[in-house]
Amino acid sequence: MRYLVTGGAGFIGSNFIRYIFNKYGDAAQVVNLDKLTYAGIRENLAEYEGAANYRFQQGDIANAEDVARAYEGVDGSGVDVVVNFAAETHVDRSLMEAGTFIETDVHGVLVLLEEARKHAPKLKRFIQISTDEVYGSIDTGSFKETDPLNPRNPYSASKAGGDRMAYAYAQTYGLPVIVTRASNNFGPWQYPEKLIPLFVTNAIDDLPLPLYGDGRNVRDWLYVEDHCAAIDFLIEHGTNSETYNIGGGNERENREITQRILERTGKPDTLIKRVADRQGHDRRYSIDMTKLESLGFRCETNFDEALEKTIRWYSENESWWRAIKERSAEFKAYYEKQYGTR
Ligand code: NAD
Ligand code: DAU
Repeated sequence: MRYLVTGGAGFIGSNFIRYIFNKYGDAAQVVNLDKLTYAGIRENLAEYEGAANYRFQQGDIANAEDVARAYEGVDGSGVDVVVNFAAETHVDRSLMEAGTFIETDVHGVLVLLEEARKHAPKLKRFIQISTDEVYGSIDTGSFKETDPLNPRNPYSASKAGGDRMAYAYAQTYGLPVIVTRASNNFGPWQYPEKLIPLFVTNAIDDLPLPLYGDGRNVRDWLYVEDHCAAIDFLIEHGTNSETYNIGGGNERENREITQRILERTGKPDTLIKRVADRQGHDRRYSIDMTKLESLGFRCETNFDEALEKTIRWYSENESWWRAIKERSAEFKAYYEKQYGTR
């Protein structure tokens, strides 16, 4: 299989490429198209650089020339599958500046789809990685794929635009599009500005854990390897034009996640710092995964073990996150702006 993976230098994209190479070895060819924004770290996949079946291309999914070149594949023979992870992904950053979210998460998807039209009918799948945030917040029960979208922040609104643009190209032009809506991922290589890696690395360094509001917002935690397995499964078994929720079945309040991180790192509760809430903070995300499970897919991971494993990974890979938190001027400026006076 010849893959074009966009955003493969980011958290989930890099885990996905590693998953594909571990599973299919030389039978897989991967082009990794990534703009290398603040969240893109090419070295995440250093072990594949130079391999005959891998090509890294720095480029922008919103740039038609970059995208056309990426669709040529590793060796010029084209690609079978596109998996679009590339996005601006952080809600808090979308509250500071939303323009780049529209440019990448909506316009970028359009550019990728336009190029896909040129490669139809040879293209087998176009997977648009969307998010459970497009449904908005739900107090009780869980969203199904048929529920209306109600994104409530600039990030999720931009993702909803890309989500529906991909669906529109499936309906209008018959492109082999599948849309996936996953819940909160966690695991190795996650940029240390999201809840779990930020709190684990702050705890290791005895820094405050800035918990927003009352800490009772609920997220459904999905181990990144289960997410990668679900995407791989859908490439094989999904139906074009369909949308699939991918949840972990691990709904937890943020204060519980925080508590567990402190217990497992052996740090005191006094590190918790209650700070002003996120504006428009979605209270609870919850998705119904029956549709994907009815095809025969199950998440394999036990949440407690996966959290333990994740904490161990950050403890054992300090040089990776210290390079970001201690040596990236961009990260320091973001951290100061986000938490400085909070
Ligand atoms: P991330 O922020 O870690 O990585 C995003 C990657 O996209 C980076 O490597 C960045 O350089 C690249 N990128 C950004 N703009 C680009 C552009 N214009 N052109 C090319 N590359 C660009 O994100 P992530 O957490 O790995 O998320 C990956 C995808 O999964 C996103 O589409 C996100 O919306 C979706 N998603 C994430 C989660 C989660 O919990 N992390 C859950 C559901 C869905
Ligand atoms: O639900 C899927 C989404 O999950 C993805 O689409 C997004 O790309 C991904 O970033 C994630 O969004 P969240 O906003 O849920 O993730 P984040 O890690 O930023 O926050 C998780 C929860 O923790 C949320 O309720 C806000 C809270 N939080 C977060 C940070 C960074 C804090 O209390 N303090 C913090 O410092």
